[in-house]
Amino acid sequence: MNFQRYLSAKRTVDDRALNQRVEARLADELRERARRPDCDDLRVLEVGAGIGATLTRFLSRPWLPDRVRYTVLDLREENVSAARERLPAWAAPRGYAVRRAGDRHAGNRFLVGRGRRRVEVEFRTGDAFDFLAETGREFDLVVAHAFVDLVDPADALAAFRGVLAPGGVIYCPITFDGGTIFESGGGGADSGPDSAFEERVVSAFHDHIDAGGDSRAGRHLLSLAPEEGAVLAVGGSDWVVRPREDGYPADEAYFLDCIVEMVGGAVEDEGLDSDRLDRWTDRRRDQIESAELVYCTHQLDLLVR
Ligand SMILES: C[S@@+](CC[C@H](N)C(=O)[O-])C[C@H]1O[C@@H](n2cnc3c(N)ncnc32)[C@H](O)[C@@H]1O
Repeated sequence: MNFQRYLSAKRTVDDRALNQRVEARLADELRERARRPDCDDLRVLEVGAGIGATLTRFLSRPWLPDRVRYTVLDLREENVSAARERLPAWAAPRGYAVRRAGDRHAGNRFLVGRGRRRVEVEFRTGDAFDFLAETGREFDLVVAHAFVDLVDPADALAAFRGVLAPGGVIYCPITFDGGTIFESGGGGADSGPDSAFEERVVSAFHDHIDAGGDSRAGRHLLSLAPEEGAVLAVGGSDWVVRPREDGYPADEAYFLDCIVEMVGGAVEDEGLDSDRLDRWTDRRRDQIESAELVYCTHQLDLLVR
């Protein structure tokens, strides 16, 4: 599996899933901030930014303020370099000019401009928690897209709040919340021969997430956030991937292949019968090939003060 291609294939799935009400509330917060007389550049920190899909999504939004300083941070250098390389290719056809900025962080800072909009983008490789603990900087917006379920939500929330400027907000879209559904097409319920086994696969997959993160991160963030602040908006952002008449849209068949691989790989040491697991992955792969598989995941988008 090519992780960067997986993240690229995930973009259209996320585009459909993102909760527009939560995003509209984020837009309202940023407009409100822009009205303040002392308002300076919007300082954004994105942790677990992958190949930079949220940066380009934000650049395509009319609500993004004209002056932004955006830090793209990911643990893996191959993701950060993919983000850095993809930005100019994404920007040019959309009328954005991209040029390198300054010498101090040679190669890691870019200026992205179009009309009145000027976005200074800094690419960084490193652990989010190390950065959050060590940076002396403050941010007006911390973004964690498809990230909080990989870590401890309480630790993440505390660390994010530690770098927030007064009035700042935290945006956590596509936060996994404990629902993984595989369904085959044909209009009926999925009563395939190994559906009972699949329940065990899904349960073991969630246990595997819990070993390093939190498979119910969405609801846990929702209950933790008001303890020291407020939830400004929350809403579902479930992934629904389904075939159309001509197959799956965009690169979503690849996305599904990766999901089946990730689930199968995550549970292979969880004590399940390995032959049945192989049959399960083969069957689900065949259903992707024949454009029959439907896949849903339950997630939440949260905007937190
Ligand atoms: C599920 S991916 C989401 C990527 C991106 N936000 C997106 O949705 O396209 C999670 C990302 O978090 C990164 N990551 C995991 N743990 C991290 C950590 N402790 N610090 C920084 N990044 C981390 C991974 O490298 C990966 O790119």
